[in-house]
Amino acid sequence: MSFPARRLRRLRRSEKIRELLQETRLSPKDFICPIFVQENLEKRQKVESMPDIERLPLNEIVIEVGAISDLDIPAVMVFGLPSKKDDAGSAAFDEKGIVQKAISEIKKNYGEKMVIVADVCLCQYTSSGHCGLIKDNKVDNDSSIETLTKIAVSQAKAGVDVVSPSAMMDGQVAAIRLGLDDAGFSDVVIMSHSAKHRSSFYAPFRDAAECAPKFGDRKTYQVPYTNLMEAMREVEADIKEGVDIVMIKPALAYLDVIAETKRRFNVPLSAYSVSGEYALVKAAANQGWIKEEDIVSEILYAIKRAGADMIVTYFAKSAAKMLQGNL
Ligand code: PBG
Repeated sequence: MSFPARRLRRLRRSEKIRELLQETRLSPKDFICPIFVQENLEKRQKVESMPDIERLPLNEIVIEVGAISDLDIPAVMVFGLPSKKDDAGSAAFDEKGIVQKAISEIKKNYGEKMVIVADVCLCQYTSSGHCGLIKDNKVDNDSSIETLTKIAVSQAKAGVDVVSPSAMMDGQVAAIRLGLDDAGFSDVVIMSHSAKHRSSFYAPFRDAAECAPKFGDRKTYQVPYTNLMEAMREVEADIKEGVDIVMIKPALAYLDVIAETKRRFNVPLSAYSVSGEYALVKAAANQGWIKEEDIVSEILYAIKRAGADMIVTYFAKSAAKMLQGNL
């Protein structure tokens, strides 16, 4: 007896059959939209290496978050640019700091209608541009996690919903969890940049956030891009320390890391599609070499297909418009 040929094309026959069979779905509700807020800025300022991305003055925050909220995007991730940097990174945990002010403005205007995520790191705030404090010319782990904890607590006081440590210091999740709980913020969620790789894809962000290291590089704390097992150990450590959501960063060149995390761990998973991923697409699209919406759609679906439950992306607003059929 001969078997009939397998006709896989049967399920691709019409638009509606294809819709029914679609395995991966994408919605604006999957997105976290990054925003940059700069102290003492008078008006919106373009970021050279990230077309259509702007740094905002504090008084534009509410308008911007309104536009994001109207697109059905549930969360923003706030990055601050202070006007003064010092060795202790003190503007990062100043209760009147730029991020703390931005958080309380958003909270006051949107309450539970917008999830406020804030980056917890030092590189925008330290004179060295490193993500931790410097001792003997090295990035010191244990004093850094104390400061990261102070930052998280100051953001919690301002009304943050989710803190997102991105310094890649050992023990940062445990320290922040204890610090938040002690200060009465046991409801504040930790979404850690668990496996943040040492990546050249961050270059445009350093332009946007003025946080390039003044000496050396980030190789002593970020994960080498050659190592998947080491990334898994980072994720495992964060889970043991009580993380709520883990993050893999960057996303597009790290789909295997996303997929492996999903396969191994039962934990909510976010992926951060970083500035360089954005800049590559924008540059080619602006030359007319690719069609931006089609490429963005393919990239974001791929990140979800790999296993991400949510995506931090600079395309959040434009992709939300596209998904709502307005583009
Ligand atoms: C700082 C930080 C970086 C990014 C997010 N937080 C830069 C870095 O580690 O150099 C990069 C984000 C992006 O490229 O979009 N800790």
